[in-house]
Amino acid sequence: MNTIEQQFQEILQDRKPENLYKPISYILLQPGKRLRPQLVRMASAMFGGDPEQTELVATAFEMLHNFTLIHDDIMDKADVRRGQPTVYKKWNSNIAILSGDALAVMAMQQLLKLQCDPKTSLALLDIFAQTALEVCEGQQFDLDFETSEEVPIDEYLKMIRLKTAVMFAGCLKSGGRYADADEQSLQALYDLGIHLGYAFQLADDLLDVYADESVFGKAVGGDIKDNKKTFVYLKALELADESQKMELKRLFSTSDMDEKEKFNRVKAIFDAVDVKKITEEAISLYTDLCLEDIRRINTQEENKSGLLALIHQLQNRQK
Ligand code: IPE
Ligand code: IPE
Ligand code: MG
Ligand code: MG
Ligand code: MG
Repeated sequence: MNTIEQQFQEILQDRKPENLYKPISYILLQPGKRLRPQLVRMASAMFGGDPEQTELVATAFEMLHNFTLIHDDIMDKADVRRGQPTVYKKWNSNIAILSGDALAVMAMQQLLKLQCDPKTSLALLDIFAQTALEVCEGQQFDLDFETSEEVPIDEYLKMIRLKTAVMFAGCLKSGGRYADADEQSLQALYDLGIHLGYAFQLADDLLDVYADESVFGKAVGGDIKDNKKTFVYLKALELADESQKMELKRLFSTSDMDEKEKFNRVKAIFDAVDVKKITEEAISLYTDLCLEDIRRINTQEENKSGLLALIHQLQNRQK
């Protein structure tokens, strides 16, 4: 079977105009972690899904994910991803908008190539469309929060459920649905994806402050620069004393301060209240929920070992 890179190369062969498709090959061939296709494959394999056909579902979600990244980097003004210039930096915003749009449509076309019964096809298209729409909703909440003063933690959690977790959930459920898993297992797969997504985004928020840039592949401090109301920020506010609270709020309402200076001041407060530890504990709690969900999947234990290993591996991720 072809690797995912070979599949992408095949899909993109000889397409024109170059300024539409070059950025798409550029991002699809970068060394991403490929988590979403792995989730699709693992869920499908648990229920005996055909591996070749499953690749169409796996690539559909990886393409959808990369589409969200192209647009996300414009919105977040991020210059580097996977250690390389972002699409809008390498080309420009117009090209990034349009190649992102095209990539989203091409992702859906992968599902239209499936050779399965129409009911299954429709069910997969339904999950895919719902996922794509919810990611847009989450991304808009994320942007809205940049300028809101008060963001309750439960609103933040709803936002990351939409922008990040539903994609993980959609991948696991689609893999299961393609392979005709029972309803209870589909629900368990979906719930597991949501909990894994929560843990994943909390880790992303933490890495945005504490990662080693050369491993992370993205610029550290991007969220602080944009006044993003991340879990790390919101928890730090809860833990801060009155003067730290005032300072944090002041820092997160400016955008004209020197970036490095703002980062250092914010990080000093994060360190002082030890928000890293609290965030790691929250990641552990969501990981535990994943371990409860995985028990509810009606397949033999040996079929779950890959997913189990991935859950543990993600808990301590550095990128
Ligand atoms: C980045 O996802 C977007 C988030 C949900 C934080 P990944 O960290 O999975 O990105 P790649 O595909 O491995 O680069
Ligand atoms: C990720 O949020 C959400 C999506 C890309 C849909 P971030 O904005 O935190 O992701 P990164 O950190 O840029 O990868
Ligand atoms: Mg973003
Ligand atoms: Mg971003
Ligand atoms: Mg991030």
